[in-house]
Amino acid sequence: MSLPPTTTRFKNPRAKYNFQGRTCSISGVGSYVPARVLTNSELERMVDTTDEWITTRTGIKERHLAAKDEFTSDLASQAAQRAMERAGVTADQVDLIIVATITPDMPFPSTACLVQRRIGAHRAAAFDLEAACSGFIYALEIAQQFIMSRTYDTVLVIGAEKLSSIVDWTDRNTCVLFGDGAGAAVLQNRPNAHGLLTAVMGADGRKSDLLFMPGGGSRCPASSESIAGRAHYLRMEGRETFKNAVQAMLTAAEEAMRRCEIDISRIKCIIPHQANRRIIDAVGERLGAKAGQMFVNLHKYGNTSAASVAIALDEAVASGCLQRGDLALLIVFGAGLTWGAAVIEW
Ligand code: ACO
Repeated sequence: MSLPPTTTRFKNPRAKYNFQGRTCSISGVGSYVPARVLTNSELERMVDTTDEWITTRTGIKERHLAAKDEFTSDLASQAAQRAMERAGVTADQVDLIIVATITPDMPFPSTACLVQRRIGAHRAAAFDLEAACSGFIYALEIAQQFIMSRTYDTVLVIGAEKLSSIVDWTDRNTCVLFGDGAGAAVLQNRPNAHGLLTAVMGADGRKSDLLFMPGGGSRCPASSESIAGRAHYLRMEGRETFKNAVQAMLTAAEEAMRRCEIDISRIKCIIPHQANRRIIDAVGERLGAKAGQMFVNLHKYGNTSAASVAIALDEAVASGCLQRGDLALLIVFGAGLTWGAAVIEW
């Protein structure tokens, strides 16, 4: 097939670009958790559980809960503002906002649009991304694509959840595990900086029934039956999820390091999804991590899904575990099933 002469052909505006000289640097991170703390001893009074069971089976001691009038977009905006301050970026510089969440304020408009209004980033495009606990790494990779292709220079990536709104507070199998919070990162092209080196993403929809919330979508809209059937709360097969989490996190982490041609000894700080201490230990052991290499903060927050590694990244930086020039390995796993890993030069 012969193409028309070049003069009349539509010119792809991106054709003149390449990735040379382009980097996706993380110029600032921030996080926010609501003030209210729910301890294991309080949970002992709510369901048939004990502090001892929760601590030994999960490592969680307490979690933060958003107030009745505090929503995912509020948590997200607080974290975003902290990240922007640290990056030295003003709202009018933001080109794109991506919010990773499974607990949007409402089905639409997107929580990202509500954040845009709240922080005054009126120039920015905005959308939500749903990859459960893996959402922050999915969002980092998408942000990187926009930056490397020179579509945008400054992207705000946020992981934010108000999981307390979809947790069944009468189900001891799940209610002890989750908490609310948000973490954010400002991604920018900056000369002579590295930042996000690679991100691996994976999914297996055949295992979608291990962790899900049946109600609220087109399959099961809200009705008196759906409410009576407790369909608007999350459901999880804990044991199966656990097994899949360890294997998927390992595979993703190994692939990310292979792409960067490094081994675990080069990583200063491994930041895994904070779901269960035993999952973190199993992954660390199989990766050959040394004592202190795995960053852990789940005793304070529980599982905050898409916010989890974002909050942990912020705390790893604030505590000095991660210094400029160090390599960090982020590893995530969540409903879908989804998983991912990213190598960052901080
Ligand atoms: N207190 C006391 N007993 C409990 C509690 C509780 N809170 N919860 C469960 N039990 C009981 C169970 O009923 C069971 O009793 P039985 O043996 O009489 O039936 C027993 O404890 C053991 O239950 P298991 O489910 O086998 O416990 P397990 O050691 O697997 O731990 C847990 C459960 C913590 C849920 C674990 O399986 C886990 O962490 N799974 C992974 C969860 C996860 O990583 N999710 C990530 C994705 S989250 C996202 O994407 C939103």
